[in-house]
Amino acid sequence: MRSPDDRQPVPRGGSSFAELAQRFAERVAAVRPCVDAQYVRPDWVQRNAELERDLLPVPPVDFLRHPSIAFQMFVNERLLPHELPYVRARLTDESLLAEPSVGGPPTVPLPGTDLRTSSNTVHQLFHLLRYEEATGRRIDDAATIVEWGGGFGALMRLIVARHGGEPTCVIFDTPIFSAVQWLYLCAVFGEERIVLHDTAPVRPIRGRVNLVPIGLAGATEVDADLFISNWALNESMPKAKQDVVDRRWFGADSLLLAMHAEDPFTEAVRAAGARALPVGDFLPGQQYLVT
Ligand SMILES: C[S@@+](CC[C@H](N)C(=O)[O-])C[C@H]1O[C@@H](n2cnc3c(N)ncnc32)[C@H](O)[C@@H]1O
Repeated sequence: MRSPDDRQPVPRGGSSFAELAQRFAERVAAVRPCVDAQYVRPDWVQRNAELERDLLPVPPVDFLRHPSIAFQMFVNERLLPHELPYVRARLTDESLLAEPSVGGPPTVPLPGTDLRTSSNTVHQLFHLLRYEEATGRRIDDAATIVEWGGGFGALMRLIVARHGGEPTCVIFDTPIFSAVQWLYLCAVFGEERIVLHDTAPVRPIRGRVNLVPIGLAGATEVDADLFISNWALNESMPKAKQDVVDRRWFGADSLLLAMHAEDPFTEAVRAAGARALPVGDFLPGQQYLVT
């Protein structure tokens, strides 16, 4: 992976990556204690340790290529022929497909344009559009959106970019991923849109993307309209799932979850009124659960 330098372009509206990268270690130190060990599965403990080891003290410019991110969050480009036509047929603004250069993601040309996109951006837009089609709701209907396990922030970036208003967003994740989301989303949008919380109680700031390490989840005061967790809450320990169910999905009356169709957590999500939809023949065995 490469070292940060000032040759990286600053995305429109974003802060300099090099300057944010210099402050990354202090952000990691602030959130590191904010973890609930009962929530995190051993495989994620391992990925988090490797990510922290390799991103400190200063993350490289191509930090999205780290195996804990690249292998977990960038789907294979073989999905593109299945998902891209669906997405293009429904998007009115194709600029949403343009991939920010932040983090050095693997990209592909978007046919018929001079844009570059990524399999991950197409995949995340596919989730949002399938949710809208299945539920008859629009993402814009939700003023407060909570995501559990947001990866490096790809889905929330698209929600903010596509939303017609200024939604209040909360992403719960493990501390190192909350710090990575801070780095990525600040570089894309600028620091004024992003808040990384490190003390209880957490009162999300309206109209911002609030990044909350999971040790502070129980002390977070939020009343969501939409709760999202794609391949994440089901990858958390039983205590985390139980706490989210007990909190009634942070008050959300609309849900979008994705997981393997045989995941035992399916029943708890169905009990909240969600129905299952297969993702598609091109991704066998995977389902969305929506309401
Ligand atoms: C497979 S990735 C999916 C990321 C993203 N939702 C996507 O679809 O690309 C799982 C996500 O869940 C997060 N995660 C793992 N264990 C977690 C826990 N106990 N609490 C919250 N997030 C967790 C990971 O850090 C990561 O962001």
